[in-house]
Amino acid sequence: MTITTIVFDAYGTLFDVNAAARAAAEEPGGEALAEIWPQLARDWRHKQLGYSWLRATADRHVDFHAVTGDALDWAMEAAGIADPDLRFRLMKLYEVLPAYPEVPEMLKAVKAKEMTTAILSNGSPAMLDSAVASAGIGAHLDAVLSVEQVGVYKPNRAVYEMVTTRFDCSPTNVLFVSANGWDAAAAAGHGFISAWINREAQPVDRLWSIPTHVLPELSHIPDLL
Ligand code: LAC
Repeated sequence: MTITTIVFDAYGTLFDVNAAARAAAEEPGGEALAEIWPQLARDWRHKQLGYSWLRATADRHVDFHAVTGDALDWAMEAAGIADPDLRFRLMKLYEVLPAYPEVPEMLKAVKAKEMTTAILSNGSPAMLDSAVASAGIGAHLDAVLSVEQVGVYKPNRAVYEMVTTRFDCSPTNVLFVSANGWDAAAAAGHGFISAWINREAQPVDRLWSIPTHVLPELSHIPDLL
């Protein structure tokens, strides 16, 4: 099948989710994070995803900004940090996460092949707009799709269906790119061609399907087209 549409996950795929804790640790007021920011970033992400899955399963949706705040509260308490200013700063930094270095060139190369491009993310529209703007990648994207349209988190199939509805295409016309192994697997299960960006050389998730392609980072994406 011909790929016409490339859809990217946002957090962890285009945007570096560890950057908020890393940056806060280097700022005045972030001294408490100096040694422990990697663990805080891991706990924050882990709880953020876990809470999204639990809320989807329990049909108790709140937007990803709220889930991200809840997860940060858990991670800060686990780290023994009670500091409202630092919490505020971390949430602010999450709104302007940097893109991975290879992202702008990769998006340019994909657009040069006349692909339709989009983000499909758990993020709320405001979070995504802010991250896209601060990374300066909006000009390379045709659409930014948020799960807020359907009120449930990935990997619910209603989320992946947003793509084929929006672009009026078949799942086999879509290359779905995610650094979250479970997301790339679920997208393949939905009928998309998928690429898992396995930055940390992790084992493949044991789910109902597996990613179509596995790549170490995003600069290889144009080669798949
Ligand atoms: C997203 C999460 C899964 O952007 O990273 O949808």
